[in-house]
Amino acid sequence: MNTVAVEALNAFENISDLIGTRVHLKKDDLLSGEYGDTLRNLLEQRGVLVFPKINFSDEEQVIFTKTIGEFMPELAGQKVYNISLDKEQNPNRDYLKGSLFWHVDGTMNRKPIGAAVLSSKALSTWGGNTEFCNTYAAYDALPDEQKSELEGLRVVHSMLVSQLYHTPEPSREQLENWKAMGEAELPLVWNHRSGRKSLILGNTAHYVEGMDPMESTVLLHSLRDWATQPQFVYSHEWSLGDAVMWDNTGTMHRAMPYDPDCGRLLHRTKTAGEEAFA
Ligand SMILES: [Fe+2]
Repeated sequence: MNTVAVEALNAFENISDLIGTRVHLKKDDLLSGEYGDTLRNLLEQRGVLVFPKINFSDEEQVIFTKTIGEFMPELAGQKVYNISLDKEQNPNRDYLKGSLFWHVDGTMNRKPIGAAVLSSKALSTWGGNTEFCNTYAAYDALPDEQKSELEGLRVVHSMLVSQLYHTPEPSREQLENWKAMGEAELPLVWNHRSGRKSLILGNTAHYVEGMDPMESTVLLHSLRDWATQPQFVYSHEWSLGDAVMWDNTGTMHRAMPYDPDCGRLLHRTKTAGEEAFA
């Protein structure tokens, strides 16, 4: 084995059996793109990669994200998005309150985003971990009988239902606004082109098509409960300068509560989706 291969072996430290790997590569090596394919594959296997105190500038974060996939700018064209519940940092903070509950990004789109990178720019005074669960591993661990019951089920996702998590008694106007944010019918089990399968759940999952409403609620919430058991979850406690990347196609994530006015700030970049939900 050559020196680079040996160095790379030592550079990857699994956090738990089923999710998360810490990557101890130098920043220059990450930016060079030399490890792009290795990290893409590792990300798909492990769900989450952590780069402790790597201290990416925005420009470096963009360069690094481009080594993983096709860079996807924000809707307004900016390259980096401010994730913060602090209105000084993010004028749309109400929308972000939904991120305190388990979700997949981009369930309203035919192709959800591929990977996303978060960099810590300011810490919270309390709370504020970001948590991830591996929805490939959660699917794999289901009993075979349940796997066959889930095969073929379709779930209607809506932005409206995701906003009810933080605002359970909305006005008519709020409901109309959320309704306008979209709805999509997705498979409950995502058959990936790799042959692997993952669960598509989270706060946008509204109801299972054709199922009794009560049964549907019980099924969606019990599967979310299953998928977020400790063996499938990695909870990242932020240090300043950490970067964390997740595979949005095989995980769910959420932020843990924190003081919304404390200035906690993460910068996010993302890659375009490469695979449609169905
Ligand atoms: Fe998110």
